[in-house]
Amino acid sequence: MNQKDIIILGIESSCDDTSAAVLKNSTILSNLIARQEIHENYGGVVPELASRAHQQNIIPVVDEAIKKAGISKEEIDAIAFTRGPGLMGSLVVGTSFAKAFSLAMDIPMIDVNHMIGHVLAHFIDDEGKDKPQFPFICLTVSGGHTQIVLVEDHLKMKVIGTTIDDAAGEAFDKAAKLLGFPYPGGPLIDKHAKNGDPKRFEFSKPQIQGYDYSFSGLKTSILYFLQKQIKENPNFIEENKDDLCASIQSTIITILFKKLVKATRDLNIKEVAIAGGVSANSGLRTALQEIGEKEGWKVFIPKFEYCTDNAAMIAITGKYMYKKGMFADQTCAPTARYSMEGIGD
Ligand code: KG4
Ligand code: ZN
Repeated sequence: MNQKDIIILGIESSCDDTSAAVLKNSTILSNLIARQEIHENYGGVVPELASRAHQQNIIPVVDEAIKKAGISKEEIDAIAFTRGPGLMGSLVVGTSFAKAFSLAMDIPMIDVNHMIGHVLAHFIDDEGKDKPQFPFICLTVSGGHTQIVLVEDHLKMKVIGTTIDDAAGEAFDKAAKLLGFPYPGGPLIDKHAKNGDPKRFEFSKPQIQGYDYSFSGLKTSILYFLQKQIKENPNFIEENKDDLCASIQSTIITILFKKLVKATRDLNIKEVAIAGGVSANSGLRTALQEIGEKEGWKVFIPKFEYCTDNAAMIAITGKYMYKKGMFADQTCAPTARYSMEGIGD
């Protein structure tokens, strides 16, 4: 092995996916994700069940990731794990595992901010694909967050816009629930929207200052609309599912881009990325291409497996922190709320 190679084991357990990845320099050797389907029956993630499933999954997932990477665990230089933000009971599992592994293997551990991880997924090697140049803007849209991030360097980021209530992923999931889809409904809205008319129904859009977002009004607007229609036709949802999904998806995308375009114009930034679970949405990906062309942006869209929660993004963030000697010690505790600002200072 080349002396300069850095091998990082990444661990992600912030919500309901248990993931382990092995990174060599900027190349992912393996990225395994154990999804917890148990939450589907409850209409959302149940924290107690999530932490228990992480506890059951973590060892097999790490084992498999190391095997698949074709390395021995002695070759790992450091273990990077998600410290936050996320569900406390879920974070504790990954953090405790990282502490044990770090002690057992006598290697450093690196406490990664999950939201920085989503952004830095863009720095994983992907053949033929350029990486964004600094400064760039990243729209991070997930189940827990909606952020317009000004990325000045790998570990220097500023959140210039955020949601004042629901996240974009929550808007998808809550709308999906109203339509009778299981959790998480975002991907199902995406699927049905492909066959629907996005202009068929109109839903309210928020009027919020600056670069901030609000999505709670949209849910209410969909709810009242459906209640009214169902009174007249009990089969309304079934008969109009595709058009409803297309219209809801298009409304969320319009809301997201209004502020994103404003931010890029104001700051005169032409490199624009998307990240987070909702960046897997096909309508959002197409809109970024189309609007990007009009605005003269160079756009960056993550590979599908690096959109939703994964340990590859934690490992790549770990690599940048490793190079700066940013290590955690055994007293490090997970944190449910964790700002991405000020980490690289
Ligand atoms: O980043 P992520 O895996 O977890 C969090 O950190 O929250 O994001 C999960 C969110 C869920 O709300 C899910 O419905 C949404 O991403 N999502 C999608 C799609 N795939 C995942 N939303 C719309 N369209 C999709 N294709
Ligand atoms: Zn996430």
